[in-house]
Amino acid sequence: MTTVRTAVFPVAGLGTRFLPATKSIPKELLPIVDRPLIQYAVDEARAVGIENLIFVTGRGKGAIEDHFDISYELETTLAERNKTSELEELRRLRPGPGQVAYVRQMQPLGLGHAVWCARHLIGNEPFAVLLADELILADTPPLADMIAIHAETQGNVVLVDEVPMESTNNYGIIRPGVETNASIEITSVVEKPDPADAPSNLAIIGRYILEPTIMDILGTTAQGTGGEIQLTDALLASISDTPFHAVRMTGERYDCGSKLGFIEATLHLALRREDLGEDVQLMIDGLAQREN
Ligand code: G1P
Repeated sequence: MTTVRTAVFPVAGLGTRFLPATKSIPKELLPIVDRPLIQYAVDEARAVGIENLIFVTGRGKGAIEDHFDISYELETTLAERNKTSELEELRRLRPGPGQVAYVRQMQPLGLGHAVWCARHLIGNEPFAVLLADELILADTPPLADMIAIHAETQGNVVLVDEVPMESTNNYGIIRPGVETNASIEITSVVEKPDPADAPSNLAIIGRYILEPTIMDILGTTAQGTGGEIQLTDALLASISDTPFHAVRMTGERYDCGSKLGFIEATLHLALRREDLGEDVQLMIDGLAQREN
């Protein structure tokens, strides 16, 4: 049984919803409290035993490489100033030597194209894809359940959550077949359907375990919704010869691709922090009074 050892993080997106902040800062580095968004996704992958991290980057995303590198000046200065806990935290969050690779997506041709750009680094093993926009917090990340279903089925697995029917046009939507305690068989999938055409309200939410055969399919997938090469279309094309299942979302999910979701995640995580929570609550109460 091959376990899943590699994760792909597509991070080439322009982040237009967060302009002008994202003019010179990759949106993946915008902080939720004090940790960049991408760090949450990387921590999630490493929590389920994934060792190799592939970032599909683009122009202007070099700061992501610096983030996952050693900063000798910073570490030396922290050590000299006896900032031991900060130093330890930096070291704990950092992947090991040789565990990170970067590949450029040279044109913004869509999520499917971004994943395909990593094909030579993936080779012949199953791999995970994590979209950092979806921030997922759980004691055991749902990725662990997805890896278990993959081990059982040797097929493609996606994470799904119920979304309001009126927002199906923001997501890949599955047509569910037989559901067991652990997974849902998928009989079809469609990218961003209008609510009237959506086969359900079960949306794919940014976590995938994929068989390497998806790469060949992506290589021949035509442009789909929005003129982009869609991972969803390649998954649909693979249904005839590869098992395809969904795992239901457990834990908490924040859509940090939207401003409201980003603010919600920031507030919620700040409220939970031992060093900040009480003061943030007081601040929110104060603000609410001031506005009334
Ligand atoms: C992408 C996928 C879509 C998925 C969504 C989840 O869309 O194409 O199938 O449901 O991520 O986050 P995007 O949000 O990049 O437009």
